Amino acid sequence: MKVTVGVSGGIAAYKAAELVRALQQHALDVHVVMTEAAKQFVQPLTFSALTGHKVISSLWVEGDAEPEADLASAIEHIDAAQTTDALVVAPATASTLAKFAHGIADDFLSTLYLATTAPVIVAPSMNVNMWQHAATQANVETLAGRHVRIVPPGSGYLACGMTGEGRLAETGAIVEAVLASLNHRNDLSGETVLITAGGTREALDPVRFLGNRSSGKMGYALAEAAERRGAKVVLITAPTALRAPARCEVVPVITTAEMRHAVLGHFGDASIVIKAAAVADYRPVEQAEQKMKRTGPLSIQLEPTEDILAEVVSRRRAGQLIVGFAAETENAVVYGRDKLLRKGADAIVLNDVSREGVGFDSDRNAVTFLTRDKAHDFPEMRKRDLADRILDEILALRRPHAKLVTETDRVFEG
Ligand code: PMT
Repeated sequence: MKVTVGVSGGIAAYKAAELVRALQQHALDVHVVMTEAAKQFVQPLTFSALTGHKVISSLWVEGDAEPEADLASAIEHIDAAQTTDALVVAPATASTLAKFAHGIADDFLSTLYLATTAPVIVAPSMNVNMWQHAATQANVETLAGRHVRIVPPGSGYLACGMTGEGRLAETGAIVEAVLASLNHRNDLSGETVLITAGGTREALDPVRFLGNRSSGKMGYALAEAAERRGAKVVLITAPTALRAPARCEVVPVITTAEMRHAVLGHFGDASIVIKAAAVADYRPVEQAEQKMKRTGPLSIQLEPTEDILAEVVSRRRAGQLIVGFAAETENAVVYGRDKLLRKGADAIVLNDVSREGVGFDSDRNAVTFLTRDKAHDFPEMRKRDLADRILDEILALRRPHAKLVTETDRVFEG
């Protein structure tokens, strides 16, 4: 999930760095937006280094930019508003609170506040007299009335030399407010979830391999969501370009044989196994020791790899839930259901990868959650939202009678 931290210009701006780190500890993808005044207190570089993302502070491209660059910048800004799952402003100065309360959008942060539909959390910090001023209190009241979550300042010695209310709230309190706004659930606490992600590679020679188009995004989104919901997560990942999710045990592998070895090694402790990886079904019988030369037509003999999902199912212990994925390009439900029954998993998450804009390498996906007796369709949505929906379905497998069949579910007989 993506959280945007808005930093406005107060002495407590430096504490936003600690907040960024604390949010990342909850497997959140943190982006930072700064006001011009905030840049007087902390360098944007601090935040871009911590987050790995560009810090946005201006509505416009700096310097004499071409109109196209300004347009691209505007699109980037709209995107920031649409894709964030929460906006937390810490520290929020008196001026920022006033702008938010009065709908003034004259910089990127105040524009983002008006444009986003995500939950907003503000943690004010300022001089005690400014905080207690009737104007500031009225603005805070207005914002609270508009469902902005206020994390009130603490009391103590202030940078201005005075003592009283106005200190930025403790980082833990701000993080708690953000997690509460994200509808944080702890329903996977006590569970160990083993997830596979990415596409395995089978070497042909020292420089070439047989691979597939999996980016790992679906598996990583599941790992982040499961971790956020309190699970201990083991992520067994084939090569991807993604940043490892925080607080997950990450086991990198390359080949199907390595993935099998890692899965069997960690499988015993897992209460839930989710096999989102796109695993090679075949590998070359022989691997050339040196780079192969182009000599003319070439035939490569392949042998089937081990079916890790089927093997895990055959070794399962009571109570373990095992869920596979399936990527199909035709007759998706028929082939997916066949895979479910043949491999003996509790459920299969079915991707129709022939559809544009979803499946492999996209940030979005549309899937069907298939069990022995029904098929539940999830419309196209962000993989990180879908991850939570898939986890809800998996947990519901433990309570088969608790979940009614919905109107859109297809029910299988026999
Ligand atoms: O990674 P992304 O770019 O985000 O894309 C997501 C995805 C499309 C890769 C993912 O959502 C997905 O569909 N993964 C499964 C792809 C796949 O390999 O499907 P399959 O139908 O070939 O395999 C069925 C199941 O058996 C899978 O759970 C697979 O992990 C498992 N399998 C397959 C072959 C094998 N030798 N061993 C296995 O365990």
